[in-house]
Amino acid sequence: MRAKLIVGNWKMNGSRAANEALLKGIVAGLDNARAVCAVCVPTPFLQQCEDVLTGTPVAWGAQDVSMHAFGAYTGEVCAKMLTEFGCRYVIVGHSERRAYHREDSALVAKKAQAVLAEGMIPIVCVGETLEQREAGETAQVVGAQLDAVLEALDAASVGRIVVAYEPVWAIGSGRNATPAMAQEVHAQLRAQLKARNAEAAEVVPILYGGSMKPENAKELLSQPDIDGGLIGGAALKAEDFLAIIHAA
Ligand code: G3H
Repeated sequence: MRAKLIVGNWKMNGSRAANEALLKGIVAGLDNARAVCAVCVPTPFLQQCEDVLTGTPVAWGAQDVSMHAFGAYTGEVCAKMLTEFGCRYVIVGHSERRAYHREDSALVAKKAQAVLAEGMIPIVCVGETLEQREAGETAQVVGAQLDAVLEALDAASVGRIVVAYEPVWAIGSGRNATPAMAQEVHAQLRAQLKARNAEAAEVVPILYGGSMKPENAKELLSQPDIDGGLIGGAALKAEDFLAIIHAA
């Protein structure tokens, strides 16, 4: 039985003052929540997360990482640096990075390797655009995105990743995939994991992301292969994020 995992992706939002209230609000409202939870925040706020969240059940992480280990890569942040701030998770291959920064699956695979090499957990994002879904290409697109990462990892490392299915058309649009639509893709992703490492497939959490909110979380999270959520907008309000955590 996989524990549910709820991860907030703050994207490029936050301020020191607002974060303090949000993080403390999340911690205060956790009660005995069963879900594992984390927030992935902009890099400048990692120290604040470490200060506020150390000793609480809430983990934290980053939203991107360099594929390089160190050196002359102006503006980049490497995995080793993220470990110095206590990061447990690093999102790689978010569709916003694929779209706005032209990241391809080969680069995403290298980033996942860099994260694993430093003992952190990559949250590997995959997802199709509306155009691709309407052209019937969803299975092929997300399949190729995940395969690129799985092929780059040794079999044991496959069991140390998190996968997030985020249909691009559902992100920030208010229009979530139906539970059945999401489950269909999640089952495919699980089968791909199984083909690579059957034991890993049983433990790797596959998260759904794309307009998950308190109103639809329970139904989405009740699907057999939906093990949690990668939450954008609804992770910016403690009340909404907590409602999703408690729905899990
Ligand atoms: O990483 C999170 C996703 O992009 C989902 O964002 O919940 O605002 O649709 P959203």
